[in-house]
Amino acid sequence: MPREDLPQIGLGTYSDDNREQWRNNVRTALDVGFRHIDTAQVYENEEYVGEGIRQSSVARDDVWLSTKTVHHDVPSDAEQVPAAIDGCLDRLGVDTVDLLYVHWPSGVYDHEAVLPAYDDAYEAGKTRNVGLSNFTSNLLDEAMDVLDAPLYAHQAEMHPLLPQRDLVAHAQKHDYTFVAYSPLAKGEVFDVPEIVDVAEKHDATPAQVSLAWILSHDNVAAIPKASSREHMTQNLTALDLNLDEEDITLIDSIERRHRVIDADHGPWNWEDDTLLG
Ligand SMILES: NC(=O)c1ccc[n+]([C@@H]2O[C@H](COP(=O)([O-])OP(=O)(O)OC[C@H]3O[C@@H](n4cnc5c(N)ncnc54)[C@H](OP(=O)(O)O)[C@@H]3O)[C@@H](O)[C@H]2O)c1
Repeated sequence: MPREDLPQIGLGTYSDDNREQWRNNVRTALDVGFRHIDTAQVYENEEYVGEGIRQSSVARDDVWLSTKTVHHDVPSDAEQVPAAIDGCLDRLGVDTVDLLYVHWPSGVYDHEAVLPAYDDAYEAGKTRNVGLSNFTSNLLDEAMDVLDAPLYAHQAEMHPLLPQRDLVAHAQKHDYTFVAYSPLAKGEVFDVPEIVDVAEKHDATPAQVSLAWILSHDNVAAIPKASSREHMTQNLTALDLNLDEEDITLIDSIERRHRVIDADHGPWNWEDDTLLG
């Protein structure tokens, strides 16, 4: 029986070099207890991620595998979206993934031109769930009107410097999962005084505090990228860290706002939307 729910902590696998490292990194992550792996066509590592899963001692059915296609310049034509989806499965070496996202509503993206291919993949069992990534609340509403498949997840940047209150509320209202990417702000949360204070109080690390704060929200999961066994283990044990109300209030009070992923690709003005909320 495949897993029914997306595990709250997953492994992010983006790196701009040494893609082959993900074969070993995925194997290590599964060994320390991760059961959710996140990749994408544009990460150019799907074949290594697939090999890492096959080489591990964990059964494929026990691993939640997510991938993404449709990005700024892949595929080059909306008619190629079904082939792009098949390409993800081929490179991963699987017949089905657990979650297939639209990576970014840019390039060839148009609700009517792209989402029917995702519905077809869902109907054909090529993906067990459909997700969207880097959407605004308005675009999510429009996409949900076009999609026949239920929206399972929305993935976007979230961490204590970018709390994404409106997008998280949207996920809670419509009962899908918000998957927080760059949940450590690529390391920028590590020296934020409020995070350091809470970490010292709990004898935890700032990475664990950031993840525990993210997971304190209903309907929210996180996919920190890590390449060492030590970082992976630390991140997974953030599940055991329970922050109290005082900690949450302190982290919520951080005024600094910062986005780490360049968001200039959408057909909308990000600063005018709610993404910094
Ligand atoms: N949908 C999208 O458009 C989108 C965009 C961006 C990212 N993502 C996904 O989100 C994932 C994570 O985001 P990200 O890679 O941008 O950044 P991130 O997860 O916020 O931060 C990764 C950095 O934190 C370090 N780190 C991880 N755990 C640590 C720990 N316990 N202690 C100290 N340092 C730690 C990593 O170092 P080491 O590698 O040395 O362990 C790496 O330098 C990506 O890999 C990708 O899967 C999706």
